[in-house]
Amino acid sequence: GRPTSPGERGKQLVVVANRLPVSWIERESPGRQYGWETSPGGLVSALLPILRERAGAWIGWSGAAGQAPEPFDHQGIRLRPVQLSAEELELFYLGFSNATLWPLYHDSVRFPEFRRSWWRSYVDVNQRYAEEAARSLEDGGTVWVHDYQLQLVPAALRERCPNAHIGFFLHIPFPPGELFAQLPWRRQLLEGLLGADVVGFQTELGRRNFVTAAVRYADARRIDDEVLEWRGRRIVARSYPISIDFTAFAELGADPAVRSRSEEIRDRLGRERKIILGVDRLDYTKGIDKRLKAFETLLARRVNSDLPSPVLVQIAVPSRELIPDYAEIRERVESYVGQINGEYGTLGRAPIEYHYKSIDQRELAAWYLAADVLAVTPLRDGMNLVAKEYPATRVDGDGVLVLSEFCGAAHELVDALLVNPHDVDGMAHSFERALSMDEEERRTRMGSLRDQIASTDVYAWAEGFLEDLNR
Ligand code: G6P
Repeated sequence: GRPTSPGERGKQLVVVANRLPVSWIERESPGRQYGWETSPGGLVSALLPILRERAGAWIGWSGAAGQAPEPFDHQGIRLRPVQLSAEELELFYLGFSNATLWPLYHDSVRFPEFRRSWWRSYVDVNQRYAEEAARSLEDGGTVWVHDYQLQLVPAALRERCPNAHIGFFLHIPFPPGELFAQLPWRRQLLEGLLGADVVGFQTELGRRNFVTAAVRYADARRIDDEVLEWRGRRIVARSYPISIDFTAFAELGADPAVRSRSEEIRDRLGRERKIILGVDRLDYTKGIDKRLKAFETLLARRVNSDLPSPVLVQIAVPSRELIPDYAEIRERVESYVGQINGEYGTLGRAPIEYHYKSIDQRELAAWYLAADVLAVTPLRDGMNLVAKEYPATRVDGDGVLVLSEFCGAAHELVDALLVNPHDVDGMAHSFERALSMDEEERRTRMGSLRDQIASTDVYAWAEGFLEDLNR
């Protein structure tokens, strides 16, 4: 990463996010190793250098219920763990955050549940994050709060630190008014967000939905498209599409060890077979079941053709397994994989290869290099960084991106093959088109995708947000 100094160099910055930027790792071999390891991902690598320069702190949860670790330093940054009890894990995290807000904010593709006990816990836990932030904050310092788990933190913090610069960024979509209106606590959530000076969204759509809701349900006054007035303060609402560390992925794509690993993958799967790759957290918003259906449709159409059958590799990263809707989509996906492989497989050659595990960035990059086509087909997604990582890794300039219109990324990556994931036949057709696209078209499209992604990396994203916040 490259160090940045947006806004006022040296002025303290505190980041508040549900999770800390580290996780506890224990390995048995080689030799017993354990300790805090920096989490992968663009957000963490963009913010750590800024925090280091601005004597910052990061407030978040370690990922385990019960007694929180004492504050500690990690790579020059003060980490302050927030405690969640086993009950709060259930009510705040699995409940209100991920079984109320998550489905509601993703177009209600699953029924959001509204429960008072979940809400009460959400309020308590948000207060705790705000208290912890207030404790770390120097007068006139800056706080950047992240994501849907912490929407009440800006106002709770404003009460304690009236002079703070408070920013909030929502990583997931902000839903349209008709859906947001269902929330019994819609006014309180909006008032929580309106405690910030800058509220950021992935897309213009999210910004617009928020502004409309704030006017309708929280009596905010609209000054212009991006400015609201509320209780005597001005609040900027703006879109800041997040990105990735482009250079880091490009470097992985050029790394000889990663390249030889990708050759190995191609050899193992069979050189004559084209590879369609899917990489997602195993979440019902990702449209994995529809993707499988589209692939099955493609196989059915090819039954009597001489074209070699492609292989679909689905890497599904375990996530929120204790929530019933997640257990259910896992079962559905896995039984469907079995069914399709039973029907269209031959001995030793299955049309779908399925992995249920997390993979590290080098292995991921090797898969990106091996894939002829990357299929990103969510029903709704705030941005989707996989869609940006794939082109960034393809330093060879080849490969085809099939991308759902319902991802934030689709607004920028217009040279992908855009699909409607609800239209299974249309998606099957786009897979066909991707598999048979000639090299010239592949290179033209991939070239413009790469240019687009390189033009605004995650460092520029963080700088842009903090500049507005410190203005
Ligand atoms: C999404 C959310 C993040 C969240 C991540 C992993 O990307 O926007 O806030 O951290 O999923 O989910 P988890 O529940 O494991 O933190």
